[in-house]
Parts: sequence; structure tokens; C-alpha cells
Amino acid sequence: MKTCALKLVALSAFVVLISGPAAAADGAQLFKSRCGICHWDPAQAGEKPRQGPSLKKLIGRTAGSEKSFPRYSPAMKKAGFTWTADKLDTYLDNPRKVVPGTSMAFVGLKKPDERKAVVDYLLKASR
Ligand code: HEC
Repeated sequence: MKTCALKLVALSAFVVLISGPAAAADGAQLFKSRCGICHWDPAQAGEKPRQGPSLKKLIGRTAGSEKSFPRYSPAMKKAGFTWTADKLDTYLDNPRKVVPGTSMAFVGLKKPDERKAVVDYLLKASR
């Protein structure tokens, strides 16, 4: 009985260890793996747009207004809102819900901590 309880304690300590800081979402890494196939990393943007628009100076920009991007959907062009950290968070959760008809073929980042990491990364990198 006693050893069993001890094992339990050891096991939960182990779970805390592996699910702790080591698993913290890394915004730069997430951007690279989840967004990077279609968007330049804003920290190194400047070239021609990829499949998606440049995200440089994103925060404070009107949705669908990046001049160098020729392929916005009509939906994004008339969305009319300004990108803030909050807006980006809801958009990344479910792009099609925030901009119905968007051509961004992305299911969404469902984990709040991953979204926060990407938003925090963009707040810094896209200035
Ligand atoms: C499969 C390609 C693809 C992936 C993956 C993708 N995007 Fe996009 N993204 C697009 C396209 C295409 C648009 C233009 C959408 C439109 O015009 O409706 C877009 C638009 C955007 C916009 C609006 C920009 C503006 O100028 O208004 C933001 C913000 C954005 N993406 C962020 C992200 C982030 C962050 C990720 C990763 C979590 C991501 N995207 C993943 C293709 C993609």
C-alpha cells in the first residue's frame, strides 16, 4: 500500500516535469511550422509575398490592406477591422469564423497557449 502511494507521488512528479516548461509553446518555432509554408517570417520578410501576405507591421494594420499582396479574397478586403492582438487570437482560433470566405486555408490553432505564443511572437517580430 505504502509503495503504491509512493509510486503515485513519483509518477505525478514526473508528469509535472514533462508537461512543465519543456512543453511551453515556442512562438517562433510554431510560426515556422504552422504559418511558414504560406507566410514569410516577419523577422526576415521583405521579398515577394508567398501564398499569404507579408505579416510585417501587422498589428495596427487594416485587414486585407498589405499593398504587396495581390491575392486577397473579397472577404478579407472588405473585412474592415484593424489587427490587434485580441483580433489575431480569435482569428487564429478559427479564421473562417472571423472572416467568412477567407482564402486562408488553415483550420486554426486550437490550443490557447499555442495561439498566445504565436501572437506574442508576431507582436515582437512584426513591428
Ligand atoms: C495554407 C496557407 C496559409 C497558412 C498555413 C497560414 N496562412 Fe495566413 N493567410 C493565407 C492567405 C492566402 C491569406 C489571405 C487570406 C484572404 O485574403 O482571405 C492569409 C492571411 C492572413 C492574415 C491577414 C493578413 C492581412 O493582411 O490582413 C493573417 C494575420 C494571417 N494570415 C496569419 C497567419 C498565421 C499567424 C498563421 C499560422 C498560425 C497563418 N496565417 C497560416 C495563407 C495561409
